[in-house]
Amino acid sequence: MRLKRTDWIFILVAAAVIGALVLLSLMGREKKPVSAIPQHVGITADTPRADCLVCHDPSVEGSVAPLAPTHPHVWKKEQVACTTCHTVPPGGIEKVPVP
Ligand code: HEC
Ligand code: HEC
Repeated sequence: MRLKRTDWIFILVAAAVIGALVLLSLMGREKKPVSAIPQHVGITADTPRADCLVCHDPSVEGSVAPLAPTHPHVWKKEQVACTTCHTVPPGGIEKVPVP
């Protein structure tokens, strides 16, 4: 099948729309570093995801800070560490500034 001129125009428009949607979905979605709060003391860049999920797993009832349903779904992959996206200061979080 040979593509007609109108087919190409359609493909280009569709690609532009998809690109715009992807851009929109990424906007305002900044990866926050692991915050310096008492609950995060002891966390380093090597802390395994299981340790984060103790408090952040949305499927566990009574989670301290469950992940929002809008959280990027990559977190569900076993092989992806939370700290890949949520950076920890070098040396880890040791002390927390007293407010
Ligand atoms: C002992 C419980 C606990 C553990 C373990 C824990 N967190 Fe948290 N985390 C919290 C609490 C409580 C908050 C604050 C939630 C709020 O402000 O609503 C929080 C907030 C966050 C935030 C949001 C920070 C911000 O600026 O809004 C990120 C990102 C985060 N945690 C990542 C992690 C990662 C990554 C790990 C594992 C390396 C982890 N947490 C382990 C309790 C924990
Ligand atoms: C692919 C990168 C990525 C991975 C992996 C990831 N996050 Fe996030 N996280 C984000 C982004 C981006 C946001 C901001 C979401 C927003 O603004 O809607 C976020 C937000 C958060 C927040 C703030 C509250 C919320 O639910 O939006 C917490 C807490 C958090 N992440 C914890 C974790 C934990 C714990 C893990 C590991 C199980 C993890 N993240 C894995 C990218 C990631």
